[in-house]
Amino acid sequence: DVGGLVDRYGRAATDLRVSLTDRCNLRCTYCMPAEGLPWLPNSEVLTDDEIVRLVGVAVRLLGVHEVRFTGGEPLIRPGLVGIVAAVAELSPRPVLSLTTNGIGLDRLAAPLRAAGLDRVNVSLDTLDPTRFTELTRRPRLPAVLAGLAGAVAAGLTPVKINSVLMRGVNDGEAPALLRFALDHGYELRFIEQMPLDAQHGWDRSTMITAEEILSALQAEFALLPDPVERGGAPAETWLVEGWTDSAGQPARVGVIGSVTRPFCGDCDRTRLTADGQVRACLFATEESDLRTALRAGADDEELARRWRIAMWGKRAGHGIDDPSFLQPVRPMSAIGG
Ligand code: GTP
Ligand code: 5AD
Ligand code: SF4
Repeated sequence: DVGGLVDRYGRAATDLRVSLTDRCNLRCTYCMPAEGLPWLPNSEVLTDDEIVRLVGVAVRLLGVHEVRFTGGEPLIRPGLVGIVAAVAELSPRPVLSLTTNGIGLDRLAAPLRAAGLDRVNVSLDTLDPTRFTELTRRPRLPAVLAGLAGAVAAGLTPVKINSVLMRGVNDGEAPALLRFALDHGYELRFIEQMPLDAQHGWDRSTMITAEEILSALQAEFALLPDPVERGGAPAETWLVEGWTDSAGQPARVGVIGSVTRPFCGDCDRTRLTADGQVRACLFATEESDLRTALRAGADDEELARRWRIAMWGKRAGHGIDDPSFLQPVRPMSAIGG
């Protein structure tokens, strides 16, 4: 892709993650403090039209063919359905997905599907109501479970669940989470915790590693190698022997080992924050300000040029293992994961 988002290591970014808001209706302890964070002022947040314009540049001029909406929590953005509908009208039509905590999805799944959304990933770290309330600081487990069911009912499939395991908190729940996902036809992925929290509390010793996750699962399930190519996907997947998904295909479980099994060499991502900054990497320490250029009247070609320059500077990897590693200033909740 000659005019695409290539970097100096030869990777091409074809998967765009767009954060629609830095705000969230949960307060997960591993993500942000109880009082929340200093949110972006509305004047700095891209309007619905500005988002569609920038996604259009990525799709029409830069070779992006997958667009995922993230947050904060994207379902709390008032214009979400309209943004999805407008992006689904782009040509070539990108594959559209959303990463959400699931609250409100019972109600929004059908309109989002009708607007053109293809699938959703829902975050769920525990099935225990008390633990859920401790972990997220909100008593909303029933809402999340209703959201998951609503997503399947609306055809936003395959519905994937993301679980972050924390030592001494929910790490004993791995097999139960998998059994729940298999019973309901959701595809579960466990995620290694990354140093991206607002409180800078990440500690390697409390991170549950991919290896630990796999051995916990293998105590109760037989995992078989997945014949499907991984490509640029963060998740390594296995087939769960004896289980099928809602389409009758072999059921899968995934592990996203960002820290101990990095996939940066195959990374195909570019990111746009809610305030219109391009990030070449989740762990980028620099951003490129498309909002200011856009509001100053830059045309599509100029925006595309700036986006290409930003991606050319993408680092080789996240560098978490380097002694000089510094966490990015912007926390996960403002990047969109
Ligand atoms: P699928 O296309 O359904 O596989 O989605 P996904 O796993 O790429 O996206 P999702 O938003 O569900 O993210 C799941 C986890 O993967 C989150 O913890 C993300 O932060 C993490 N993740 C997503 N993209 C990247 C990435 O480029 N680098 C790293 N290190 N982690 C990522
Ligand atoms: N490391 C890994 N995953 C995280 N998530 C939030 N913070 C982190 C972190 N520090 C997860 C959320 C959600 C997904 C988008 O990212 O739980 O499932
Ligand atoms: Fe891509 Fe950066 Fe994630 Fe590595 S850490 S996979 S380079 S976004």
